[in-house]
Amino acid sequence: MISQVLKDLLTKDTPVAILTGAGISAESGVPTFRGEGGLWKKFKPEELANVDAFLKNPDLVWGWYQHRREVINDVEPNPGHYALAQLEKKVSDFTLITQNIDGLHRRSGSENILELHGNIQRNKCIKCEMIYEELPDENLEKAPECACGGMIRPDVVWFGEMLPEDVIRSAFTAAERSSVFFSIGTSAVVQPAASLPISAKQSGAYLVEVNVDRTVLTHIADEFFQGKSGEILPQILEECGLS
Ligand code: OAD
Repeated sequence: MISQVLKDLLTKDTPVAILTGAGISAESGVPTFRGEGGLWKKFKPEELANVDAFLKNPDLVWGWYQHRREVINDVEPNPGHYALAQLEKKVSDFTLITQNIDGLHRRSGSENILELHGNIQRNKCIKCEMIYEELPDENLEKAPECACGGMIRPDVVWFGEMLPEDVIRSAFTAAERSSVFFSIGTSAVVQPAASLPISAKQSGAYLVEVNVDRTVLTHIADEFFQGKSGEILPQILEECGLS
């Protein structure tokens, strides 16, 4: 199934960078944003994941994140996550860049992770920016208040907000340094993450895509594996003798 070029790249310990999106967690039972089953109460993610929506209706936005936290707390990493954690052990220069906020990569054993969009388990005050690693009550239905009087929000990146500068810089550096770049389970439409595969390719990386459907990236990919990442990634490792 896999080409000799890719096999050589993966077995000769060349730098590898990976970008993952919601699709890698789909087989764990976490809904994606776009495509089938991607909507919550008929809202698009863009309508809820922004600061204006939170200020206008904090409890609605908080409710969406509480719902997503409940989903995530109940699921486990899948073979796709585990395959990437396994690959990291075999490659000395390995960077896993994720748009996901579900923490499943860490739970599956990956270590060198750049979380572009934050982490859903953490919260912060919109006024004094105090970070809350944990809240006293995990089941709050309404957005809680900080001691300073500000409202507490999830510590994730919303539409219209800047990504943490050091994280995005490290992601582009890893993409440009990579010899092989994987784009896995992402529709590759949300910037700046969507530019990472293109930037990697322009810098000479071999671009590989894994997705159940074709995306805007597919026509520039050097190799496209159409299927579920939980099935394709373990197969790639096996064919390379890396599992
Ligand atoms: P999307 O929901 O846009 O795309 C998920 C992709 O995964 C689609 O291309 C699906 O075809 C693919 N897919 C689904 N199941 C799969 C499977 N089992 N194996 C492989 N591929 C599969 O999710 P993202 O691209 O991650 O941002 O979305 C990017 C950002 O938009 C998110 O991080 C979030 C969202 O709004 C913020 O919240 C800032």
